[in-house]
Amino acid sequence: MLLLRGLGHRSPTASGILLVLVALFCCWAVDASFFLGDLGALSSVVALGANLICNKVPGLTPRQRTICRSRPDAIAAVGQGASLASSECLFQFRKHRWNCSFPPGTEPIFGPVQLAGTKEAAFMYAIRAAGVAFAITQSCSSGNLTSCGCDKLRHQAGGGRRPSQQDFNWGGCSVDVRYGLKFSRVFIDAREVDEDSRSLMNLHNNRAGRKALKDLMARDCKCHGVSGSCTLRTCWRTLPSFRSIGASLMRRYNRARQVMPIKGRRARTPIFLKLKKARRPNKKPRRADLVYLRHSPNYCENDPLTGSLGTRGRQCNRTSTGTDGCGMLCCGRGYNTHQFMRTWKCNCKFHWCCKVTCQNCSERSQIFTCK
Ligand SMILES: *[C@@H]1O[C@H](CO)[C@@H](O)[C@H](O)[C@H]1NC(C)=O
Ligand SMILES: *[C@@H]1O[C@H](CO)[C@@H](O)[C@H](O)[C@H]1NC(C)=O
Repeated sequence: MLLLRGLGHRSPTASGILLVLVALFCCWAVDASFFLGDLGALSSVVALGANLICNKVPGLTPRQRTICRSRPDAIAAVGQGASLASSECLFQFRKHRWNCSFPPGTEPIFGPVQLAGTKEAAFMYAIRAAGVAFAITQSCSSGNLTSCGCDKLRHQAGGGRRPSQQDFNWGGCSVDVRYGLKFSRVFIDAREVDEDSRSLMNLHNNRAGRKALKDLMARDCKCHGVSGSCTLRTCWRTLPSFRSIGASLMRRYNRARQVMPIKGRRARTPIFLKLKKARRPNKKPRRADLVYLRHSPNYCENDPLTGSLGTRGRQCNRTSTGTDGCGMLCCGRGYNTHQFMRTWKCNCKFHWCCKVTCQNCSERSQIFTCK
């Protein structure tokens, strides 16, 4: 639930729904065991609960609802992953004209992202796919999900490799990232049933998001041996910080590649995406690339059709020449200056014993907001 907090104050609907979901699920289960005390009946009531939950989650496709019913315990983790992705998106884009905010009621928790096939949509899909894989993996290793745990392959010595190739043994709990990645692939990619260019774009970006997570996986080790001589090491795989995944995808966003659909030769792949500007014809984007179909609007004005909220009222930085500078952020419309007095405690002295006295300091301060 901690992970939900980031989104909590921005999107009360999203976390509200999840809280209700979790509450519903736990209470159905508790009620059942209390009244029936019979495992068979319990599972059918839990299944009923799962139906109830899965029918209430907004924005799921029929295929996702089916997966939800078969894995109701995972759906809370999916929700955590989606909120993790939302807060990271807000952080990464806080200085951009498009700041990853959505009008209330249209936040794309599970549902489609209301943006034309732009770079921003590419980022959203990638970070959401990574977020779900991340949260599922985390839930697995903390024992919160029934069908996964630690990575079993990395339990035996050598971890599948010949011992001579590595100077440590796997031990402890290596997170099972393959399980998380697979779950994200099955659940998130299940949305993309249309065989059109937008679906291909979404699928590519989902995969790029998961690849970013996979490539950033890290290893923690512990030394053994006489007084920490480290003659023997035990290591386990850990998840990277989600911030580092966001930063990596942000670099990909800045170098996103435009693609266009072309007809495939084989019946199984009626269309595929190729890079729009490439010397070699039919060159495909790389797996790690974020790809987009359409150029982004400038996000200066409010336009619900493109998902642009405009930048009126946004706080800008008068001295910055970057995207958060008043010139760029306000699209040349100019900005308002608000002056106020900032007051704080200063020159605090500690008197023995035990009193602290401070003075009040104040300073004229300014903020700037876009016209
Ligand atoms: C596991 O479940 C507990 C109790 O529901 C929760 O507090 C915790 O945050 C969960 N951990 C993860 C990683 O999801
Ligand atoms: C993002 O921009 C919108 C529209 O200008 C604004 O209403 C909102 O407060 C901003 N959100 C954040 C988190 O800065």
